[in-house]
Amino acid sequence: MKILITGANGMLGRDISEVLKNHELLLSDKEDLDITNPEQIETTLQEFTPEIIVNCAGYIDVEKAEDQEDLANKINADGVLNLARACKNSSCVLLHISTEYVFDGENINGYDENAITNPINIYGKSKALGEKLLQENLDKFYLVRSSWLYGKNPQLGKERGMNFVETMLKLAKERDELNLITDQISKPTYTKDLSFAIKQLIEENYPHGVYHLVNESPITPFDFAKEIFSIKHINTKLNPISYTQYPTKSKRPLNAILNNIKFPKLRSYKEALKDYLDS
Ligand SMILES: NC(=O)c1ccc[n+]([C@@H]2O[C@H](COP(=O)([O-])OP(=O)(O)OC[C@H]3O[C@@H](n4cnc5c(N)ncnc54)[C@H](OP(=O)(O)O)[C@@H]3O)[C@@H](O)[C@H]2O)c1
Repeated sequence: MKILITGANGMLGRDISEVLKNHELLLSDKEDLDITNPEQIETTLQEFTPEIIVNCAGYIDVEKAEDQEDLANKINADGVLNLARACKNSSCVLLHISTEYVFDGENINGYDENAITNPINIYGKSKALGEKLLQENLDKFYLVRSSWLYGKNPQLGKERGMNFVETMLKLAKERDELNLITDQISKPTYTKDLSFAIKQLIEENYPHGVYHLVNESPITPFDFAKEIFSIKHINTKLNPISYTQYPTKSKRPLNAILNNIKFPKLRSYKEALKDYLDS
């Protein structure tokens, strides 16, 4: 299959590029294919004629988005619309990645694939708008939501170039104790597992639509850090705190739990985390 991957230098983009390498791939990132540039997208599609675009490009800085709403919308909403329109013109499928942040996190039972979105911060709003524009402008799409991603290729050297796992390992070397939140919950997901699930979705021709692809089951940052330190035999003391003691500019969804009821369940976060830390 001919597959165009956008945002291919990102944390998820790199794993997806590796996992899909049995296909004919065109790997692109902002420098060669900026998804906010419709002409550039058209030209690329005419030249490469992909059957699927996997859109891993995105604006993902939740805190900065509070001050950069226009930029977040330009990439996460307008960029997706540009891709959707181009796909419609060339009968190409668009697989787009979204997030648990499109939900408000008020529902302690979590959110099924068909739940109504209600984002509570700028990043979530820009992603929800992207989802809406995708669904309104294209029939042949996969909308894949996932959460709390960690992968082997965080963008090291960039300001946000650390995933949660690497941040915990780094802080454990620098401090004797760490404060971690106990009243926020989500499903941390290994980008390798997400990439293999996406490969299965595409290769086994699952029906187009919305999918929640996440490792199971939900966990708090406190317990996830505890698990990381247990696997790595680290003794740093962990202090439980409430999210109210860790003020952020952006509001965060508290029960950001994606329920996967349409696709075979991915493995547990414990297995995925051990695999990540051992490899
Ligand atoms: N990270 C998470 O916890 C998480 C959770 C759920 C869903 N997601 C979603 O998963 C997707 C991938 O996230 P990630 O963690 O892999 O992010 P990432 O590492 O920041 O990768 C995103 C890539 O997109 C590129 N990009 C930015 N603007 C672009 C543009 N206009 N045109 C083309 N490429 C552009 C970025 O380049 P620059 O770095 O140069 O800007 C980067 O290489 C995003 O849609 C995100 O919303 C992420």
